[in-house]
Amino acid sequence: ATPAILAKAFDVQSVRNDFPILHQEVNGQPLVYLDNAATTQKPNAVIDAISDYYRNINSNVHRGAHSLSDRATEAFEGARETVAEFVNSPKKAQIIWTRGTTEAINLVAHSWGRSNIGAGDKMLVSTLEHHSNIVPWQMLAEEKGASVVPIPISSAGDIDLVAFDALLDATVKMVSVGHVSNALGTVNPIEYIVASAKNVGAKVFVDGAQAVAHFPVDVQSLGCDFYGFSGHKLFGPTGIGVLWGKEELLNAMPPYHGGGEMIESCSFAGTSYNTLPYKFEAGTPDIAGAIGLAAAINYLNQFDRGAIAQHEQDLLVYCHLLAEKCKGLKRVGEAKNIAGVFSFLLDGAHPSDVGMLLDQQGVAVRTGHHCAQPLMEALHIPGTVRASFSIYNTREDVDRLFSALEKVKSFLV
Ligand code: ALA
Repeated sequence: ATPAILAKAFDVQSVRNDFPILHQEVNGQPLVYLDNAATTQKPNAVIDAISDYYRNINSNVHRGAHSLSDRATEAFEGARETVAEFVNSPKKAQIIWTRGTTEAINLVAHSWGRSNIGAGDKMLVSTLEHHSNIVPWQMLAEEKGASVVPIPISSAGDIDLVAFDALLDATVKMVSVGHVSNALGTVNPIEYIVASAKNVGAKVFVDGAQAVAHFPVDVQSLGCDFYGFSGHKLFGPTGIGVLWGKEELLNAMPPYHGGGEMIESCSFAGTSYNTLPYKFEAGTPDIAGAIGLAAAINYLNQFDRGAIAQHEQDLLVYCHLLAEKCKGLKRVGEAKNIAGVFSFLLDGAHPSDVGMLLDQQGVAVRTGHHCAQPLMEALHIPGTVRASFSIYNTREDVDRLFSALEKVKSFLV
């Protein structure tokens, strides 16, 4: 199927009609939802798929001797296939279900990390990273006598590639970077980072939590070793996510959690482990979550992804134009490539006060350090106000944000 032929024309008003939650008032005003980097809203197709699963086929997967279990297994494994195609995985067995990006990173840090990181080794993470892409590596470093070294960024919020290359040597075993920064929206040059890391034999983990909803991701063309993302930032449910990995690496890695499903045979004399992907999927999985995530991907796939990216870029450009005219507003993060995020500060106003006053006018944003305290420290700021965009946002939403900001200024500044 060629998306160019099948793609529906992208009509934001009709997209909005697919998302029931958007059509409500919050604090007496029509909701403007600009907190999409925290979590996206869910279309009817996803809500219905989850409800249909529980109404009609709920059963445990891979184990039953009955028809419902077969149907649940088929839907669950079909969802894995959908995800495999979505990221262009060579095999569906390379798609490991996790609870989200955070668990995907922890899985690699524990399983790959414990067998491959030793005393004196280094793991590089960028200064832009979310805590979830710092702390698991720090825990590993502490256990192994290794270290986590930050890759510096420019004041605009781009990774300093010269500094990155200078940090690379044979002691660097892992480079773990976000595809898109959750706090500033910077789109990182993954292909360049992978090519440089390969020169010293380091593996690359890409945290794709903030990328997958904004543009197509092809793990083979990126060339990374691992890629993780969450369902709930991709119009799917919370509690489900994905780890993709290169087959030879996943095969060589020990299990993460022990339990049912992940064994080939179990006895008190010793236990042998299942093949991929089940080796990493102990216990009853989030069946409804996987089915809901596949429904989200199918929903997204009906559109031309290029048209969605264009729509979101248009919103950012419009936002930046209005920002220039907004006295006292300072953008935070002016990287060369930005996806979905507009972070800013208002002179003389604390971000949390700005967020509260925006909420009173029906505008939902996130404020604070965005789980990226080292980034805030590097930028010498306590936090930001973050408006983050998605497929269903409009220029009217941007207008509402800026008219609400004028009111905020009249109260605070
Ligand atoms: N990581 C999510 C955010 O940035 C929760 O808002």
